[in-house]
Amino acid sequence: MKKIYGYILGREAKLSVAEIEAVYRGNNCPYRILFYQNDILIIESDEDFFDLLGGSVKLFEVKLTNQVLNAAGLKGLIDVGGKVVFGISMYGQNAKKNIVIELGKKIKVEFKEEKINSRFLYPKNTSLSSVEIDKNKVIKKGGEIIIVQDGPSNFIGKTLKVQDFETYSKMDYGRPASDAFSGMMPPKLCQMMINLSGIKPDKNIKFLDPFCGSGTMLMMAAYLGYNNIYGSDISAKAVEASLKNLDWYKNEFDKDFSCQIEEKDVLSFEDDGGFDLVVTEGYLGRPKNQKTTQGEIEKEISELKDFYNKVFFKLLRILKPSGVMVIAIPFYSLGYRKLFLDPQVPEKLELLGKEIYRRENQIVGRQILILKKSV
Ligand SMILES: C[S@@+](CC[C@H](N)C(=O)[O-])C[C@H]1O[C@@H](n2cnc3c(N)ncnc32)[C@H](O)[C@@H]1O
Repeated sequence: MKKIYGYILGREAKLSVAEIEAVYRGNNCPYRILFYQNDILIIESDEDFFDLLGGSVKLFEVKLTNQVLNAAGLKGLIDVGGKVVFGISMYGQNAKKNIVIELGKKIKVEFKEEKINSRFLYPKNTSLSSVEIDKNKVIKKGGEIIIVQDGPSNFIGKTLKVQDFETYSKMDYGRPASDAFSGMMPPKLCQMMINLSGIKPDKNIKFLDPFCGSGTMLMMAAYLGYNNIYGSDISAKAVEASLKNLDWYKNEFDKDFSCQIEEKDVLSFEDDGGFDLVVTEGYLGRPKNQKTTQGEIEKEISELKDFYNKVFFKLLRILKPSGVMVIAIPFYSLGYRKLFLDPQVPEKLELLGKEIYRRENQIVGRQILILKKSV
C-alpha cells in the first residue's frame, strides 16, 4: 500500500537524494517525489529503504497534510502508556523554534489534564538530532512529531527510525589501521557511493575496489550484504591496513563474508570481464596545502588525466557486460574556479550520473562518476 515517507538528509543532501533515487530504482520500486527542499525529501511509495542508506539520518511517515498546527491535533500522533517521552521537530523554510516550544508545552499540559505523565524534549534549534531521539528512547516511549512547514502548506508525520550513529562511529573511528597520508573515506560516503550504482546488494555480485586504501569501501560492501568482495592497492602498506581492518570488522560485528585483498597496480589487472560492480575512490594526487601553487595543480591535473584515461579503459575491460562502476576522481577548487580532470570515457561506458563531494576549504574534492558498461 502506498505510504508517504519523509527522509531527513545528512550533510550531503544532494548526494543523499541521488542515493535514495538509485536505491528505489535498483529495487524496481516505483516512487513519486512530493517535496524536496534542503535536507528534506518526501516521497510516495510502497516501501522505504532507510536501512540501506548512508545519507539519510531520519525516516518519518507523513500522517497529515496542510493542517492548522494545534496541540490537540498533534497529540493524537503520540503513543501513550507508561511515562511518555515526546519531541517535536520542525523543518522547512518556515520552521520556527517558538512554534515547536509552544506546541510542546501545550501538549504536555493536555497530557497532564488527562493524568498522563509526560516529558517534552526541548530542541536546541527547531529539531532534535538522531542522537537525542535514540538516547531518550523517544520512538519507543511516545514519539517524535515531524512538521515540515513550507509557507502555508505542511506535512505532519511521525519518526519511524533514526540512523544507527553508534555503529557508524565505531566503523569510522574504531578501525585499528588508518592511513593519514592517503586519507580514509567516511564509511557513510562509501555506502552512498555503493548505493549510487543502483545495484541491489546480492551475495553473488562480484565486487571490486581496485584503490582500496585502508579498506573502507570493502567494509561497507560487506556491511550492505555483498559477499564476493575483492580489493587491491598498489601499496603494500594499504593492503596490510585493509586486511587488518576487514579482519577487525568481521570479528567486531560477527560478520561472515568472503574478501580477498592483494597488492596490485590497477593498470596491471587481467582483462577478464569478471566484475559486476566496481566502486572506488581513486588516487587523489599528492597531498595539498595552502602553499600548493596553481602551476603544481595544473601539472597534476594533466598527469592524472592521462592516468585516469588509462584507468577507465582498464576498468571497462574488467567489468562484465552491464556491469557498473562508481568512481571518485579528484577535482580542484581554486577560489571560484573548479577544475575537473575530464578524462576520456570509453564509448562503451554509458554515463548514468555525476555527483560532487567536497569539504569546505579543501582544495581537492571528489567528482563521482556512475558508469555502466553496455552489453
Ligand atoms: C584516496 S586513496 C583510497 C582510500 C580509501 N578509499 C580508504 O577509505 O581507505 C587512493 C589509493 O590508491 C592507491 N593507488 C595509487 N595509485 C594506484 C595504482 N596505480 N593502482 C592501484 N592503487 C593505486 C594508493 O595507494 C591509495 O591507497
